[in-house]
Amino acid sequence: MPVVSTKEIVDRAFADRYGVGAFNILDDLSIDAVLAAAEEERAPVILQTSVKTVRAYGRDRLVAVFRAMARDTTIPVSLHLDHCPHRDVISECLDAGWNSVLFDAHELDVADNLEQTKEVVAEARRHNAHVEGEIEGIEGIEDDIGSDEASRLHKLEVAVDFIKATGVDVFAPAIGNAHGQYKRPPRLDHQRVTDLVEATGVPMALHGGTGLSADQFHDLIARGCAKVNISTAIKESYMRSALAHLKEAEAKDKWDPPTLFARQRESLVQTAREHIALFGGSGRAW
Ligand code: 13P
Repeated sequence: MPVVSTKEIVDRAFADRYGVGAFNILDDLSIDAVLAAAEEERAPVILQTSVKTVRAYGRDRLVAVFRAMARDTTIPVSLHLDHCPHRDVISECLDAGWNSVLFDAHELDVADNLEQTKEVVAEARRHNAHVEGEIEGIEGIEDDIGSDEASRLHKLEVAVDFIKATGVDVFAPAIGNAHGQYKRPPRLDHQRVTDLVEATGVPMALHGGTGLSADQFHDLIARGCAKVNISTAIKESYMRSALAHLKEAEAKDKWDPPTLFARQRESLVQTAREHIALFGGSGRAW
């Protein structure tokens, strides 16, 4: 299956009310593992990259590895740029072939954010690519972007106007969700998702997926959260499986990198599969 547009992946999920897992990948090992998980679940999947990952791994290397691995899969897959406040990085990723971008300009006032998001949408269209928009910060710092302070919330009409005026394909509402592990059980504004979807007909992206309950996922997906972001669970799976392996290696004084990579891959496949199944994405590949 060739790489397909993020819009097609999200719109189909929105129409049939399941969630597509959008997993923050870090390198070739995690790309391979998430694709394998989606393949085993026969599910469409979105691979997303933080700006930090684009810079650390290298834009061209990342897209080359993604393309080479995606070519061998038989499920629909797309590449998305997660929270990016930098217009130059947005342009570079669109030029390089990312399928969609989240232009995260929530730190600007809404009028400025709206004008710039319109420009990003026009730029993305020239690349046959799509845009996620945001006007309120999602609490929690993710890969050096964001803040631990809860962001100012805007009236529903402001968000609806932003979505309609910019023509964004997906919108990321702040509903009490947060990046990272939740320090206390989150109280989410489920109704805001319904209100936004009813007023705009546009699918929502659920940020801060790690640590939400099955009931929360199911309800929010039913209301229109068609893209479900998972980053922290991927990072922890990657690092904790390595830590467990390295402790054993040290105890045995046996140092074999390929068995470390295999253990990490197995852990990541399991983590991604569990989330895909939880979101109702299994068996939805076309
Ligand atoms: P978590 O880190 O809580 O999984 O959130 C991921 C996310 O929303 C990425 O934008």
